[in-house]
Amino acid sequence: MKINGKHYRTIWFDDTEEAVFHIIDQTKLPFEFCIQDVSTSDEAVRAIKNMTVRGAPLIGATAIFGLYLAVNESYSFKNPSGYLQKQAQKLIQARPTAVDLEKSVRLFLSRIGDIKNQDSLKHSARQFALQYAEQSVEQCLKIGQNGLPLIKNIFEKKKKEVNILTHCNAGWLATVDYGTALAPIYLAHQEGVPLHIWVDETRPRNQGSLLTAFELSHENIPHTIISDNTGGYLMQNGMVDMVIVGTDRTKLSGKVANKIGTYLKALAAYDNQIPFYVAAPSTSIDFENEDFIIEKRSAEEVRKIKGKYGNKIINVLISNESSPALNYAFDITPARYVTQLITERGCCLPEREEILKLFPEKSHGF
Ligand code: MRU
Repeated sequence: MKINGKHYRTIWFDDTEEAVFHIIDQTKLPFEFCIQDVSTSDEAVRAIKNMTVRGAPLIGATAIFGLYLAVNESYSFKNPSGYLQKQAQKLIQARPTAVDLEKSVRLFLSRIGDIKNQDSLKHSARQFALQYAEQSVEQCLKIGQNGLPLIKNIFEKKKKEVNILTHCNAGWLATVDYGTALAPIYLAHQEGVPLHIWVDETRPRNQGSLLTAFELSHENIPHTIISDNTGGYLMQNGMVDMVIVGTDRTKLSGKVANKIGTYLKALAAYDNQIPFYVAAPSTSIDFENEDFIIEKRSAEEVRKIKGKYGNKIINVLISNESSPALNYAFDITPARYVTQLITERGCCLPEREEILKLFPEKSHGF
């Protein structure tokens, strides 16, 4: 998608330096646009951990690009495959909730890990990273195409602008391109459907007010930032036609882990008979088990807020200094509150049989 009219993806290899890739530093957006070089697999781990990159599909892709760097590094170690395994584990452990991360790493190891010849291992690892990124873009585009009729249907009935509420950032910055929840919105806008997006601020890290709003303004899509507690009131007053959110891990049972606060939006939508859609690429569906690990992050993210003061990005204390804070980063929305999942293969009810009808090859897991 575009920044100031120029097309970007969120991750790409350097044109000249073989063992370098680039990412957009999302901790500085929207105040500063900085491209960061990543030249070691440890730097890739750090970029995921400190949320320089974030969003389930993008951290999956970053891990694969990081593994390519790990392959390059591995030959200066006595036991290259042991080194690769160690870096793979570090990447998996960088963030626990998004299933894309462990799935992408395991996929890489199962496809590439056993190649013995050094040159073909390097070549295959790079090709795999490029293909993974490309597939991720295609999945998001298809989610956009599959979600588009849902928006158009509302417009055809209403004949007025469609008001969509979204939580956190599930736009192109959370993926390689297009986004998940925002992909249908981008396509609807391109087709001339009048839209207005309610952007949940998404405390504590404000991915909504910082990143989603940034994306939408660069695509000229009308939007309004709201505090996280506003959605229920808007829904009660007929100001929301549909909700679309992303997901970090959706189970075959239809339970959806997504950014903290998603569950409350789903409850409010259910109470007001407003459709609640979850845009879920198959990389974010956990076909294997029903456990969730909910990431607990630093309390400082709740106690302080980041913003721009003059020319500087600073952190300001916004709570009583001596009070503790608690910071769960994700919550789980039960399937009964989810109208449909929007996947790259189509839309379905959030139920095991329905999900597996779209992904029959996953009947035996992963
Ligand atoms: O903590 P983050 O910023 O990595 O959170 C992930 C998200 O952006 C959202 O939960 C999103 O809805 C899922 S990723 C498309």
